Amino acid sequence: MKKKSSKNNVRGFVCQECGHESLKWFGKCPECGGWGCMTEIPRPNRGIIPGSFLEQPSEPVSICDISVKRDSRISTGISEFDRVLGGGIVPGSLVLLAGDPGIGKSTLLLQALAEASKTGLTTLYVSGEESLQQVKLRADRIGIQERNLKVVTETNLEEILKMIEKLAPSVLAVDSIQTIRTAMTASPPGSLSQIRESANILLSMAKITGIAVILAGHVTKEGVIAGPRVLEHLVDAALYFEGGGAHGFRILRAVKNRFGATNEIGVFEMTDSGLNEVLNPSAIFVSERPKNISGSVVVPSIEGTRPILVEIQSLVTPTSFPQPRRMTMGIDGNRLALLIAIMEKKLGISLAGNDIFINVAGGVKIVEPAIDLPVVMALLSCYLDKPFPEDTVLFGEVGLVGEVRGVDRADIRVSEAAKLGFERVLLPSANFHSLPPQSGIHITGVSNLEEAIRSCDTFTN
Ligand code: TYD
Ligand code: MG
Repeated sequence: MKKKSSKNNVRGFVCQECGHESLKWFGKCPECGGWGCMTEIPRPNRGIIPGSFLEQPSEPVSICDISVKRDSRISTGISEFDRVLGGGIVPGSLVLLAGDPGIGKSTLLLQALAEASKTGLTTLYVSGEESLQQVKLRADRIGIQERNLKVVTETNLEEILKMIEKLAPSVLAVDSIQTIRTAMTASPPGSLSQIRESANILLSMAKITGIAVILAGHVTKEGVIAGPRVLEHLVDAALYFEGGGAHGFRILRAVKNRFGATNEIGVFEMTDSGLNEVLNPSAIFVSERPKNISGSVVVPSIEGTRPILVEIQSLVTPTSFPQPRRMTMGIDGNRLALLIAIMEKKLGISLAGNDIFINVAGGVKIVEPAIDLPVVMALLSCYLDKPFPEDTVLFGEVGLVGEVRGVDRADIRVSEAAKLGFERVLLPSANFHSLPPQSGIHITGVSNLEEAIRSCDTFTN
């Protein structure tokens, strides 16, 4: 293997397997142990291809002379997508749409571009994976007939830039970034250097021309280290499209957004004719909740700017292993470990001999601390084999000494629960005191775990 070219246009070396960077070249990657996978990282060249139409010197201007167009966002016509983007596509932005193969990225992009074209804008869909016929078949299935939506199959970035210069689209979708290659780096297509360099060039193009660019990116099987993750710091918004379990729901989540709230989610359903938005996810997520069964509670969770009711299910069973099993789907495993420790210390409940499973129904992932109290109550309900009151929702953060702490946006959580017909809310007393008077729903404020338990008749009887 050629060690390195001694030119000084090399910034360092990067492992093609795991993305580890170092100043020195290694035959074996110090991070993942892979052999022969370190390649050169060229010095950045401002992401501009010499000789392309983008090559023009930039001049400093007075801050007073910069004109900003307000309200110039481009609607994708899909309100769930627009909301996750922070209110539509910002011209000149670079957005990453990442997800497992087959999740529906190409479908979503095609639908969004077609809708955006309806307003008279020209949009360009570049496919590096499928033939024009395949794209057309998908478009027929969705029912797309838009003259202004242009489609091309191309993987050569230099060629794509020429088309952009000619066509000047308002929105460009590149499906997928992994298939694109540029002559600016010698690494093979699909390699990290190619992905990074191509994205860098598209970023400069977007900023100079004001064309919005959406990149589809496959999440690799090994995890998310290589591929889309390396682009997260570069893009303006990183959206992940995830599968929502057996129901066929797809959840679009913003993990980074320079123009909107993060953790905003959009819920979709894959149908025979493309993706449909699910406008009232709360109703669906709790619709299949079993009645009068221990271990299930409902929590009004805030995802981005919107409240969503989700069901949390727990299973507590005697273990047959020396080391009990702890498994979570949809919440952080470390958080569960902490809550179990608090329950043992503060409630005197020993769970050391039990396997514990927690699942958020519908395939939603919840990262906010308001889930603490619901998780504790779900565990307790299953442990005692007593159902948690069916008409009650609850939320609140639990501290290390068993106190229930206030969380944000209590008012919209309560109103979402009332809207869906729940009759009682159990919430932190800190929130109770600051809530405006509510009608139609009974509210109980609790300041620690014991109070929370006492307030549930089913647990105390
Ligand atoms: P696709 O958009 O190709 O996924 P990705 O680009 O993320 O790899 O869509 C994947 C799946 O969706 C595929 O299995 C077929 C299915 N599908 C439908 O069920 N209905 C439809 O209308 C379309 C277009 C696709
Ligand atoms: Mg695809």
